[in-house]
Amino acid sequence: MNKVRHFRSLLDINKKEFIRIIERSIELKKETAKGVINNSLSGKTMAMIFKKNSTRTRVAFETAMTTMGGHAIFLSSDSTQLSRGEELSDTAKVLSGMVDIIMVRTHDHNEVEELASNSTVPVINGLTEKFHPCQLLADMQTYYEEKGSIEGKKVAWIGDGCNMCNSYINAAKILDFNLNIATPSGFEPDQSTLNLANDNVELCDLPGKAVEDCDLVTTDVWSSMGDEGDAEKRKALFKGYQINKHLFEKSKNDSIFLHCLPAHRGEEVESDVIDGLRSKVWQQAHNRLYTSKALIEFLLKESKD
Ligand code: CP
Ligand code: NVA
Repeated sequence: MNKVRHFRSLLDINKKEFIRIIERSIELKKETAKGVINNSLSGKTMAMIFKKNSTRTRVAFETAMTTMGGHAIFLSSDSTQLSRGEELSDTAKVLSGMVDIIMVRTHDHNEVEELASNSTVPVINGLTEKFHPCQLLADMQTYYEEKGSIEGKKVAWIGDGCNMCNSYINAAKILDFNLNIATPSGFEPDQSTLNLANDNVELCDLPGKAVEDCDLVTTDVWSSMGDEGDAEKRKALFKGYQINKHLFEKSKNDSIFLHCLPAHRGEEVESDVIDGLRSKVWQQAHNRLYTSKALIEFLLKESKD
């Protein structure tokens, strides 16, 4: 049997592959701007299982498949037999006999592992409570486009130690940048993820300290999907962790701001930062399309070789 390459987290790719995907995303973006037609996914189908909401991830993957000559099927959990108790392992065995690649967004990271271990085609993690690796591809593409290599640079993560923060930790380890993290006590990122990246990550007590001299400043919502029940409590606890002009000014004067979106202005970020000149969030969101194309291409090719 051919080896199957999955993308369950960033740890499924090495540094060379990460950079190759970024460079290919940049190339695909340039080709698209020139009107080059790419039908390399002709006859290919992606199944997209969404157990959580999405705007960018769904549109990016569906558009990536369509514009490269393939097709994507949107499967919401409530409209499939998953909501009536069909097991994920059975679903994986069925889908992988019909489609070429599977993407899944779900509340439980173990479900991505279960799908992957029962699938004969690549499985992409489109976000779990633990990781959001697809978003990091777009974040890193944006950084490379704006400032070049991120190796040795300083990045600040401010706010919740959520799925995005865990994926930033993975990226810091793989691409070798320095990541300062400031979260309220009790909202630190995943310890086992931190343990793999000790040399690249520093936990800071104060957001001002974390942001000092950084090349990239980033954050995410204070309540991720699944944390909504805690939202009011979190607003109070996260109050000092807002990225506003005052905090952003402590970073380098040519630093950039990224946010995976959706954003809540007035909570984790103020409009003077996210709508400011050094915010690259729209470019970052649009790069989801090109990184999705490059990732699909990479996984299909690597699974065939
Ligand atoms: N950033 C991101 O993944 O957005 P969606 O939730 O809209 O897919
Ligand atoms: N941390 C957020 C990311 C959304 C793209 C969430 O999981 O809801």
